[in-house]
Amino acid sequence: MGVSKLLLMENAGRGLADFIQKKRGDLKDCRIVVVAGLGNNGGDGFVCARHLAGQGASVTVIILGPPPELKTSEASLNWKILEQMKRTVKLLIVYSYADLQVLRDALASADVVVDAVFGTGIKGRLREPFASAIRMMNEARAYRVAVDVPSGVDPLTGEVHDVAVKAHATVTFHKAKTGILKAKEYVGEIVVAPIGVPPEAEE
Ligand SMILES: NC(=O)c1ccc[n+]([C@@H]2O[C@H](COP(=O)([O-])OP(=O)(O)OC[C@H]3O[C@@H](n4cnc5c(N)ncnc54)[C@H](OP(=O)(O)O)[C@@H]3O)[C@@H](O)[C@H]2O)c1
Repeated sequence: MGVSKLLLMENAGRGLADFIQKKRGDLKDCRIVVVAGLGNNGGDGFVCARHLAGQGASVTVIILGPPPELKTSEASLNWKILEQMKRTVKLLIVYSYADLQVLRDALASADVVVDAVFGTGIKGRLREPFASAIRMMNEARAYRVAVDVPSGVDPLTGEVHDVAVKAHATVTFHKAKTGILKAKEYVGEIVVAPIGVPPEAEE
């Protein structure tokens, strides 16, 4: 109907940032770590990071894989915007399992962790470094917010094949996916954020 994917991603990331801001109040001195995969779930995380940085949070974005391998133009564009935000956003790249110490270090001092690793695009058994990254996120003392679906949870069935993020809250977009309604011990509080999908698009 003409609503661009970039606009939907913007609305998703903004909805996430608004939720975090409401939970935490003033974001000055709040240390937020966004852990992102290479798909659109990661892209939503990049938009969220930009909005949170704009509100004064101290933001670190850790991407699990090489940025040139981002899967969509929307995610790639939002990553390139972050690359220019040198004063307010710290970017770290995990290329492989061997680089995961940077994630561990960042998580150790985080107040909020945004899980933007996998959403509805997850398939099959988790590969590395993703499974280990999810375990590390679960060990962090921070408040964990999942983007759309906690990473590792099957968005349709709610099954967890290996490991999944145990979120304190899940901000899901447009409508709650059936899987998150079944995976109660992983999703935490569920918030449905509207992203501007016209009701007629579903008819
Ligand atoms: N812009 C929009 O229109 C819009 C609207 C609403 C929501 N969203 C967001 O976009 C998300 C869906 O994005 P998406 O379709 O790009 O999928 P995704 O959930 O971001 O996941 C896709 C990524 O996960 C990797 N992956 C999948 N299974 C894996 C496994 N078992 N082990 C390791 N890596 C694995 C894929 O790599 P390979 O391909 O190499 O396997 C790919 O990089 C939603 O959940 C929501 O957050 C976007």
